[in-house]
Amino acid sequence: MSRVAGKVCLVTGGASGLGRGAAKRLAAEGASVVIADRNTEGGAAVAAELGAPHRFEPLDVTDEAGWVRVVDATVAAFGRLDVLVNSAGIAVWGNIEKLSLADWRLQHAVNSDGIFLGCRTAIGAMKITGGGSIINLSSVAGLIGVPDAAAYCSSKGAVRMLSKSVALHCARAGYNIRCNSVHPSFIDTPMVDGVVTGAKDQSKMRAMVTHAAPLGRIGKVEEVANLILFLASDESSFITGSELAVDGGLTAQ
Ligand code: NAI
Repeated sequence: MSRVAGKVCLVTGGASGLGRGAAKRLAAEGASVVIADRNTEGGAAVAAELGAPHRFEPLDVTDEAGWVRVVDATVAAFGRLDVLVNSAGIAVWGNIEKLSLADWRLQHAVNSDGIFLGCRTAIGAMKITGGGSIINLSSVAGLIGVPDAAAYCSSKGAVRMLSKSVALHCARAGYNIRCNSVHPSFIDTPMVDGVVTGAKDQSKMRAMVTHAAPLGRIGKVEEVANLILFLASDESSFITGSELAVDGGLTAQ
């Protein structure tokens, strides 16, 4: 129960789904966790569920000044920042012919700009205290194309390559900061509930979501949280710039 003992972890999107699961797993393994989310009610509820010393900070990940405030608040509370989990994200659906420019920009603002700002701000704090680990939630849609998710694929592909650039920069600078991207297939979270309930044919979509992975089922939040925990811990000390799929074999096909 101490795989990340003493580490200070900031988890965006921590009010829900994969971020919430990661926050709970990291806290259970000895970390101090700061949950950041634009959903203030949900984020505060997760922090309350975890109890002290864990805390909630409101953050819209597209807000540059907000990032500085949250990282500063984390360092003020705990003296350091060791791990950043960038899980906040949205899914905007639409193929290339149907997508509006506004939707394209919204998708990239949250999923790509948000992670760019998070990496840049966190590195500023991590390099002062001797290093850290940045874990960016991409998707299988950052590895393979999905026809009805042009902007989502683009935003997640950006996360994949940004993570590699960050990893190489930090390695070359000698910061001891690692950066990796995580690529889940369908995982049982409110985001995927929304995909199913928003579909014209819900039972067809539910079947697609369930059987997309060769393992023949939807993934569990805990299965992604386990990978995030590994990347947050020193067990992964020689892993940086990697893209790790947690997808039931989907991208092996
Ligand atoms: P979710 O919808 O359950 O949770 C996302 C969280 O991000 C919510 O708490 C929401 O309030 C927060 N958020 C959204 N926009 C924000 C903003 N601008 N600022 C701050 N917080 C914001 O989604 P889920 O499933 O937990 O997804 C987490 C990440 O994992 C996302 O980046 C998603 O694209 C990615 N992912 C999810 C998969 C899945 O099947 N659930 C599969 C592949 C990737």
